[in-house]
Amino acid sequence: MSNEKKPNQSQSAKASPPGRFGGAFGICSDHAGYELKNKIIDYLRSKNIGKIEDFGCFSTESCDYSDFAHPMAKAVSQGEIELGISCCGTGNGINITANRHAFVRSALCWTLEIAKLARQHNDANVLSLPARFVSEETAFEIVDAFLSTEFEGGRHQRRIEKIERY
Ligand code: RB5
Repeated sequence: MSNEKKPNQSQSAKASPPGRFGGAFGICSDHAGYELKNKIIDYLRSKNIGKIEDFGCFSTESCDYSDFAHPMAKAVSQGEIELGISCCGTGNGINITANRHAFVRSALCWTLEIAKLARQHNDANVLSLPARFVSEETAFEIVDAFLSTEFEGGRHQRRIEKIERY
């Protein structure tokens, strides 16, 4: 039996070009990404970019990344927010968790080039950052690239559609 999932209206609609992003987007972390998450929130607010929903965590106390990644990814999957940004130590835990959700394409990015390609080729709608392995400056560059790069469509549209068919 095919496990193909049917997108709802907001999921099937092409995402707003992130460079002109006007909708809400989410951000989350575990304890390892908590400080970087807060710096990114401040950075984005200073640039007046979008409406940010903070899905936690809310301290550096040890916690489980999946408790915060699932609610944010669910909101992306259901079209309540257009994009998500996540931070954990390696970026992997939150990335793996987010990618369990239909229509979520979470990309682990540690350079701005990878972030650009994740948008251009994969139409990534969640950015996962390895907080323990990127400087604050690099993280801001990656966020800027992720939010300002558009999906190229074409052959990549066919490929991302096949992700949901298995
Ligand atoms: C926390 O120590 C660490 O395991 C977590 O932040 C992340 O790297 C997991 O993938």
